[in-house]
Amino acid sequence: MNILAISGSLRKDSFNTGLLRAAIEESPDGMDITIADISGIPVYNGDEETRDGVPAKILQLVDDIRAADGVLIATPEYNFSIPGGLKNVIDWISRVENQPFANKPVAIMGAAGGPLGTARVQYELRKVLGSQSANIVHKPEIFVGGASTKFNDGRLTDDICRDLIGKLLAALAAKIS
Ligand SMILES: Cc1cc2nc3c(=O)[nH]c(=O)nc-3n(C[C@H](O)[C@H](O)[C@H](O)COP(=O)(O)O)c2cc1C
Repeated sequence: MNILAISGSLRKDSFNTGLLRAAIEESPDGMDITIADISGIPVYNGDEETRDGVPAKILQLVDDIRAADGVLIATPEYNFSIPGGLKNVIDWISRVENQPFANKPVAIMGAAGGPLGTARVQYELRKVLGSQSANIVHKPEIFVGGASTKFNDGRLTDDICRDLIGKLLAALAAKIS
């Protein structure tokens, strides 16, 4: 099983990218997780799309999503919602024919500084990916609040969170097989 992982944060020391690294460590046998690069993608502009087409980096992501058996997204919450960079990537992806997210198994998790631990953004993301008919894992939900207390040197140290990530990956695998 090949899983493409996307972090909603571009920050070098991102807790959410840290969650994806923990997922690599907690992945079940036979699951291979690769973290995608979504940096440097221009803000969607319909005129630029008409003139230049969809950016090469988005086309690569589209190919990678199509080739993957499933997608794992870890995202922070920005102002109660989806970080602009991640939403922009989803908007670009939605412009290609034959939606790559259609029926694709997708698991979502997130870490935030606040106590709600990305609950609000995850429901936004479920709605947005639903517009592209993604096959989203419903449970377990992983809302990592107070993220700074649960990482040490970029590594997730919270055993409850690590256990939940293993369960989320098992649920993703069940949707794939
Ligand atoms: C623009 C912006 C908006 C934010 N809004 C929220 C928010 O609505 N809720 C929340 O819990 N944290 C919010 N935060 C704090 C983030 O949860 C925190 O910076 C987190 O570490 C970001 O994820 P990362 O470590 O993966 O980059 C916000 C941070 C930024 C930069």
